[in-house]
Amino acid sequence: MPQLSTRHILGTKYLTPDDLTLILDTANRFKEVINRPIKKVPSLRDVTIANLFFENSTRTRISFELAEKRLSADVVNFSASSSSLKKGETLLDTVNNILSMKVDMIVMRHPAPGACVFLSRHIDAHIINAGDGTHEHPTQALLDAFSIRERLGTLVDKKVLIVGDVLHSRVALSNIFCLQKLGAKVKICGPPTLIPKHIEKLGVEVTYDIQEGLQWCDVANVLRIQLERQDIKYFPSLREYSRYFGVTRSLLDQLDHEIVIMHPGPINRGVEIDSDVADSNHSIILQQVENGVAVRMAALYLLADRRGTAE
Ligand code: NCD
Repeated sequence: MPQLSTRHILGTKYLTPDDLTLILDTANRFKEVINRPIKKVPSLRDVTIANLFFENSTRTRISFELAEKRLSADVVNFSASSSSLKKGETLLDTVNNILSMKVDMIVMRHPAPGACVFLSRHIDAHIINAGDGTHEHPTQALLDAFSIRERLGTLVDKKVLIVGDVLHSRVALSNIFCLQKLGAKVKICGPPTLIPKHIEKLGVEVTYDIQEGLQWCDVANVLRIQLERQDIKYFPSLREYSRYFGVTRSLLDQLDHEIVIMHPGPINRGVEIDSDVADSNHSIILQQVENGVAVRMAALYLLADRRGTAE
């Protein structure tokens, strides 16, 4: 049985192409499971998982919880708003207290980039990063890759455009590493203020022209403007942003080929994407959400398989 090369899933940067392919192939099997009348398998019956969400989340939290329950794991949930963090406890103390109740795996979302990498150096439990600030969101990138592969058959030589607030997006960074390792080409598109300086060093191309980007790609992954992470104004108004970078039906109608539209959610209709694009048959936004459960089942299952290994 092939195994992951790592004890944690901290970012797609730290996963090998074989790890990524193993997770996607395992997710195929779990997608079949969750479409059965009885959606549950006993694989993680002896495993306890804590979902630690120090930042808001709807679909990622529900997706992980469903994935855990469908694998028959025992699950405990923690959210920052109701925790002792407010009483001054450190992250490490909070997590060590939870672990002393015999928890095997941690799924963590945290506002600080690097929080999961930090924890992985201090605790024994396996960790899955469910989004650390503007850094990485590896299971989102994996479910995006899974969804592209499902729709187009392969990722090799496919052209993926990532549009929008790349500067503040953990989805963008995780997608860049993941897609490239699986053989896809990546181009970034957005206003210059929302494109990180020197991003070309990651091997991506950049365009500031949405029409050119859409014409180039097979798949457009549209990102939300992360207003909650913007402490200064990066563009004059949302209206202006959507005028220049919003993905609209009329832009798609001008292309000489059909493209696949993706979005990690939550979508802001009429800002980065129009309703008639988000709800069209070009869009695989809801398939992404469905695939998220299968991909997270695969990630949890494969990590649990590495229990007892030191490295
Ligand atoms: C993304 C996130 O939280 O980074 N959403 C998600 O996980 N479904 C993207 C976003 O919030 O825009």
